[in-house]
Amino acid sequence: MPAEVSIYEVGPRDGLQNEATILSADRKIEMIEGLVDAGIKRIEVTSFVNPRWIPALADHMEVATRIRRKPGVTYSALVPNLRGLDAASRAGMQEIAVFMAASQTHNRKNINKTTEEALATYREVVTEARARGMTVRGYVSTVYGCPYEGEVPFEQVLRVGASLLEMGCYELSLGDTIGVGTPRQVEFILDGLLRAGIRLDQLAVHFHDTRGTALANITVALQLGIRTVDSAIGGLGGCPYAPGASGNVSTEDVVYMLHGMGARTGIDLDRLVAISARLGGHLARELPSKYLKAHLGH
Ligand code: HMG
Ligand code: MG
Repeated sequence: MPAEVSIYEVGPRDGLQNEATILSADRKIEMIEGLVDAGIKRIEVTSFVNPRWIPALADHMEVATRIRRKPGVTYSALVPNLRGLDAASRAGMQEIAVFMAASQTHNRKNINKTTEEALATYREVVTEARARGMTVRGYVSTVYGCPYEGEVPFEQVLRVGASLLEMGCYELSLGDTIGVGTPRQVEFILDGLLRAGIRLDQLAVHFHDTRGTALANITVALQLGIRTVDSAIGGLGGCPYAPGASGNVSTEDVVYMLHGMGARTGIDLDRLVAISARLGGHLARELPSKYLKAHLGH
């Protein structure tokens, strides 16, 4: 078990992209700044994608330009193409994340590209972003299963992941987009990537908790030496182009577990759960986080 774990907060992006209630830019900014004040050091604030595809994040420019940035904190945003990169640059982003699936059909449905087209686009985006002094994170989605194709061969995960690293991404986030993964599978996939020469410090895990396996999966990943975990406040989240996808594993559940296991996160759990409770009110629904439910006495 690592003594210190880095939480990569995706609530303002993955968390809000599929919510029925669209938060105002003011509320999103309050959410992001609150999370950072609670100790979050890496946070994905929005997506510079086509607002027709993701209407909930159509205010990306306003949110990204108005947030008060704290030194030492990494603010990131999803970018699907050069147009998105330009917008992210104008908004003052220092880091972006490119995203694609290991499966062909999800790429078609989510970014309207084949796997080959997505790789070619991202080669340009990553090269240009790095020339502008930005750092780039890479997501591989559908690592544990695809909503359209079912099981995804490990070779496809390796191929997409290795290509993203080779083009200049500093880290790969391995997405269980629809929350089908189980601990043995996590072991198999991480072990395979490590054997292929990818380093532990280049890997992060991103679990949606659709079937309740996320914390078990994270535990196995930590035992294998993974030190970066993606999560969303309240357990918000899901991809609108992945039928059946539900929330990300909740940040407060992960932080509670990590602190209980003696790992440091630098995050104040009380402040975190207070933000989560407020968000539940703003979104007018009971959020999936277990820690939040216990805190509220539900
Ligand atoms: P397209 O329709 O093929 O794009 O969409 P296009 O290049 O043909 O352009 C069509 C229109 O989109 C044009 O406008 C462009 O200007 C505009 P028009 O001339 O028709 O008025 N456009 C843009 N507008 C704003 N920002 C841009 C942009 N690019 C083009 N960057 C595209 C291709 C990739 C843009 C589209 O499919 C898209 O925006 N997809 C986003 C999907 C998305 O955000 N999904 C959720 C995130 S992925 C996820 O959740 C998984 C993850 O969490 C990991 C996991 O869980 O596994 C990361
Ligand atoms: Mg996701």
